[in-house]
Amino acid sequence: MRLIYEIHSFFRRSLIKTGLLFENALFDLTGGKAAKHCFDKAVKPVFTASRVKILREDDYSADIAKTGPDGNITDDDFTILTTSDFHLEDDYDINNKTLGFFVRQIADAAPDLVIITGDAVQTKYQQIDVIRFARLMEKTGVYWTIVFGNHEVREEKGIYKWMMARSVSMYPHCLCKIGPDELYGFANHTINIIGKDNKLRQTLFLFDSGRDIRDSYRGEYGIPADMQGYDFLKKEQISFYENEILRLESKYGKFPSMMYMHIPLCEYAHVFREDENGRYTASGETQLLYGEQWESVGCSTFNSGMFDTILRLGSTKAVFAGHDHVNDWCALYKGVYLVYNLSSDYKLYHLGTVAGKPESEWVQGATITTISSDGEIKIKPSYNRKYLRR
Ligand SMILES: [Fe+2]
Repeated sequence: MRLIYEIHSFFRRSLIKTGLLFENALFDLTGGKAAKHCFDKAVKPVFTASRVKILREDDYSADIAKTGPDGNITDDDFTILTTSDFHLEDDYDINNKTLGFFVRQIADAAPDLVIITGDAVQTKYQQIDVIRFARLMEKTGVYWTIVFGNHEVREEKGIYKWMMARSVSMYPHCLCKIGPDELYGFANHTINIIGKDNKLRQTLFLFDSGRDIRDSYRGEYGIPADMQGYDFLKKEQISFYENEILRLESKYGKFPSMMYMHIPLCEYAHVFREDENGRYTASGETQLLYGEQWESVGCSTFNSGMFDTILRLGSTKAVFAGHDHVNDWCALYKGVYLVYNLSSDYKLYHLGTVAGKPESEWVQGATITTISSDGEIKIKPSYNRKYLRR
């Protein structure tokens, strides 16, 4: 099956790339009036010289390291920029606005890595736009990766999703992998950040959190037929996570890690409570570090136990999700940071449509995580609204 996918994907990609040559020429000939979907030309990314190098890659993981001016590996601060939910649809003026803010965030933060947690590309020509987006990222010069959201899938285990993962993974700065065949979905992968003296500074676990509960696995999990809801991480993904931690511990000793996915874990629902007026207030069960909640947590109705596994293994200190565009908070729950990556969505819904707020109060943007040389992590929001004042 994989060989058929590879052949199919090769010819399809070649056809798309030929089309993009003509599109680029059309953009240049018309001074950008036509071919607005050339993201890499319409948005004008700023090249950021990366100090990251790839040490090793395989089908599901990459080892990377930050280097100093002399080219040697350093333990200098490692910055990760995360954002989520571009919701690129078929209005390319809005798409270019969304991506325009995104590349400004990258230019300002000069991150070592960019992670997009799903619902990025859902246009009619998704297979083409994902390549246009990869070209944009290539021009930033920054290493990046992506996991898929509930809006990107036409099928959990089929050619379309496979091709999106394969297409982006062909680009030199993209660290996304198709991932192990036996796991649910695609682009389940890991990134190991290696420090001086071959120390494992952090492992980043990236998972496909699916879309909504499917009948095909209800019986396996004992989920009643009338129980609907968003999807959850499957037991094979949880086993993979546990086995990978044990494997890496046997090689490096104890190490810290972080986890990224689209649909939040059920434990996100402990942070805020909805009062009788439909407003959300901090529950007091957790330590709220920043941000607010404006919509209910869009987690699954079924808890498959990933958070309990995180607590039992003691490696992962932060979990990042997207999906809920107007929740922008970070909270500490049982010693683990639960974080909403700031949304990039200007299309589907935002604080303008949800709460009638002016754009100067909207919460789209990027979340910046810094890993310091002593392993401490700091997480802070960087809102796009700051660019409105300039
Ligand atoms: Fe979503």
